Amino acid sequence: MEELIEKAAEELARATNVAALTGAGISVESGIPPFRGPGGLWEKIDPMEYAHIDAFLKDPVKVWNVLLKDMKALLDTARPNPAHLGLAHLEAMGILKTVITQNVDGLHQLAGNTDVIEFHGTFAVHRCMDCNRRRETCDIDLDRIPPRCECGGIWRPECVFFGEMIPSRALWRSQQAAESCDVMLVIGTSATVQPAATMPAIAKQAGARIIEFNEEETPLTGWVSNYRIPGKAGNVLDRVVKRVEALRG
Ligand code: APR
Repeated sequence: MEELIEKAAEELARATNVAALTGAGISVESGIPPFRGPGGLWEKIDPMEYAHIDAFLKDPVKVWNVLLKDMKALLDTARPNPAHLGLAHLEAMGILKTVITQNVDGLHQLAGNTDVIEFHGTFAVHRCMDCNRRRETCDIDLDRIPPRCECGGIWRPECVFFGEMIPSRALWRSQQAAESCDVMLVIGTSATVQPAATMPAIAKQAGARIIEFNEEETPLTGWVSNYRIPGKAGNVLDRVVKRVEALRG
């Protein structure tokens, strides 16, 4: 493990255009459960029954009661952990340029990263399904379920449900970042959902080094990733960034 941390730190200390692809695993140490694997949300509820746009349109009360209410409670209080702060530090050192995140928790922006591509949208804002006005999630009142806009329309989060398209600007900018980075950090993602999971392969194809941070192996390990550093992202990434600082002097 120590030699992998040293190797990653040396590569990052030399890099000038790093991109990161992050998934739910980077926010687990902020108290937000992952979707898959031990304690995963999809181990408890069926995503096709609660996180698909058709399910929301058919029964918004059910989706708000089973999925969205708890998500709001979690995200209202979640704070960045050392993994998020490490990526912000890499940006402050002029090493990391862009974070492509599959997460909707807004923790990268809260940690200080300024170029965050929200591949699956964001839970921080809701949109009325009738009049299209937008409102900060923290200002959505859950006294009534489903919460309704003054016009009577139902509020929905601005995240991408299953069955919906990836926002085209997010997709295009992510492909650009993947094609131009010299190193891509792939942190806390099971790399099972497309097209997000294709970004590391695009980066690899364009000549980037791919460093995976995950507690477990993924479909990228040993094939797209040059190497995987096992362990909790909050601990491991923090140690790598501290080593980069020392090498950079
Ligand atoms: N440190 C590092 N890795 C971790 C940690 C941790 N503390 N905790 C969990 N992981 C890893 C798990 O091993 C797993 O590989 O993070 C990954 C989380 O995988 P998922 O829960 O599948 O999350 P993600 O890859 O982001 O899912 C992609 O699926 O349901 C959709 O829209 C949802 O954006 C999500 C997408």
